[in-house]
Amino acid sequence: MIMKTLDDLIGEGVQGRRVLVRADLNVPFDKANPGVISDDGRIRAVLPTVTALRDAGAKVVVISHLGRPKGAPDPKYTLAPVAVRFGELLGAPVAFASDTVGASARSTVDGLADGAVALLENLRFNEGETSKDPAVRGAFADELAALADVYVDDAFGAVHRAHASVSDIASRLPAYAGGLVLREVEVLKKLTGDPERPYVVVLGGSKVSDKLAVIEALLPKVDKLLVGGGMCFTFLKAQGHEVGKSLLEAEMVDTCRDLLERGAGKIELPVDVVAAEAFAADAAHSTVPADAIPADRLGLDIGPESVVRFSDALSGARTVFWNGPMGVFELAPFAAGTRGVAEAITKVDGFTVVGGGDSAAAVRALGIDESAFGHISTGGGASLEYLEGKQLPGLTALES
Ligand code: 3PG
Ligand code: MG
Repeated sequence: MIMKTLDDLIGEGVQGRRVLVRADLNVPFDKANPGVISDDGRIRAVLPTVTALRDAGAKVVVISHLGRPKGAPDPKYTLAPVAVRFGELLGAPVAFASDTVGASARSTVDGLADGAVALLENLRFNEGETSKDPAVRGAFADELAALADVYVDDAFGAVHRAHASVSDIASRLPAYAGGLVLREVEVLKKLTGDPERPYVVVLGGSKVSDKLAVIEALLPKVDKLLVGGGMCFTFLKAQGHEVGKSLLEAEMVDTCRDLLERGAGKIELPVDVVAAEAFAADAAHSTVPADAIPADRLGLDIGPESVVRFSDALSGARTVFWNGPMGVFELAPFAAGTRGVAEAITKVDGFTVVGGGDSAAAVRALGIDESAFGHISTGGGASLEYLEGKQLPGLTALES
């Protein structure tokens, strides 16, 4: 399993060469202020790779997806605001092409001086990017490849996608793993190898169905699995409790009951929840026992007693993986659970990993010191699939 790296590429020399850098600049936007990026962590994460290439004299052509447009241009998902922020963070201009492989992309790349950077428009404005038909994807990958001399994959958050710019492109250009991809993989290897014990995993987020595979994979390996977020209500239901209007995946209740049986002594659920009249920051709300959620209320956060218990479980841990917020942290009255658990993780004397999009954004949105964690991943789905033991198309494509 040999993977060529960014250092190898720079060692070979990139002066004047066009380097196509696949990044994951799929950043969240502020719902109240269109066009305003609410968390630029994924842009910052790719800066070291871009800067190393610039310093070595490469012409850097960055490509990314944003959101899930349907294979055609959609102004809602333009990368234009990302190009602006990218330039600010890089401290250098980022030329923006208004298409991905068309006339604008070609002339933008042709106009790059050595050491200069361009960002091309959203890859997913092209149906070939995500097509299930390998010939359609391949044709798009050919067009991307024509824009550059070599390819660097630094889009860890997208390595689980068998898309043209992640997978097909790597057989069309000499391919290298970027620094971010290498760092992320190194961390996840530590978690899947022989993690120091106790190993505690905290899972949240809205859906059990999204986390089922990772729960199955981790249950035999962890010492404790703490479950919060919207998904805890399906588990509470499986224990026989009514959950009112809380999020519930009825078809997953039996599966959760089975997991609770197999994970007896390992899986911990909240003992109290913050239950509200509606999904709104100004909704009437109160803390109630997890087994007494009123029929007309919905749980939007774990309660303070649960935070104490989860923090206790975390206090002696030597390895922690956390994915998914404990509640609706974007709304102030329902942020305390996520904040409490995040703070407990920062105090752990051991190796701590924050996996993924929402939990990483939560850490920064709540103003928690990022450096207090061992690693904050840029990949949500990607890190979960890695921990599930799946083959990730973006990594496979880099191995030769
Ligand atoms: C993500 O945010 O999960 C990554 O950017 C991948 O995006 P996707 O789930 O739309 O493929
Ligand atoms: Mg995703």
